[in-house]
Amino acid sequence: MIEGRLLPGMVPTAVQEIVPVVEQRQLARDTYFLRLACPAMAAQILPGQFLMLRAPELTDPLLGRPFALYDTYADDEGRPAGIDVVYTVIGKMTGLMSTWTPGKDVEVWGPLGNGFPPPPSGRLMMVAGGIGQTPFLAVGREALGTKSYGLPARAPQSLPSDVTLCYGARSRDYLAGIDDFQRAGINVKIATDDGSAGHHGFVTELLGQAINEGEAPNLVYCCGPEPMMESVAEILQAAGIKGYVSLESPMACGFGACFSCVTRILMDDGTWDYRRTCVEGPVFPAERVLFDQ
Ligand code: FES
Repeated sequence: MIEGRLLPGMVPTAVQEIVPVVEQRQLARDTYFLRLACPAMAAQILPGQFLMLRAPELTDPLLGRPFALYDTYADDEGRPAGIDVVYTVIGKMTGLMSTWTPGKDVEVWGPLGNGFPPPPSGRLMMVAGGIGQTPFLAVGREALGTKSYGLPARAPQSLPSDVTLCYGARSRDYLAGIDDFQRAGINVKIATDDGSAGHHGFVTELLGQAINEGEAPNLVYCCGPEPMMESVAEILQAAGIKGYVSLESPMACGFGACFSCVTRILMDDGTWDYRRTCVEGPVFPAERVLFDQ
């Protein structure tokens, strides 16, 4: 049974609750892992969906902030028990979050957004920049058939033969969760701006290399800074490869009411229209997103 207050409007299964922090630890430079006890959300959430978080006792910051699902965790009986998120400290809200300790009450609402579609067979490549790797642990686990998400649990029709994460960061210090991805059976390729780990250069170059070397993926999922996603979309279009991008638009409500998150999306007839990233996204077909707004 789903507990908590049902949100009105576009997301009839989302819940809004006050839940406790279970664990907080640093994963990398300025980057933290936060575990929250919220079984109702954990039972439903899909890879690529997100939740909103805020401190219920504060009016500054007043608005919640969106965080992608990193993974769910289960209790001793194997029942969904809560949600893990990974975030980088870049402002007031995330600075505040880094001070939260176990037992702290947090306001959450979600699951929100559409999430990534279950991948078909073939090579799946996930291209991430900055903190954009966070949706891809759950995506990879589901794709490899080692974990199920959703209510009822969603099962891939046919499993990809190969699941690879191409992960770009400023330097080695900022790489977060590599062990988690490798333990999950995901191939990990690294790129860093300063060459301190992996390929010295842009993560998009790893995608280009794979295509040039005859190892082109059949499908690409991408999340990260907008210029990187735009570059990935261009590479995919040139190579004729299907891709999806997860947009990191600023959000205020997270459930379709405020229109603070709109982005321009190409329609079937070649015109464009605004779409709300929080309910019609955050995942869109790469070829549909107009990045030059
Ligand atoms: Fe309010 Fe999307 S964040 S409509």
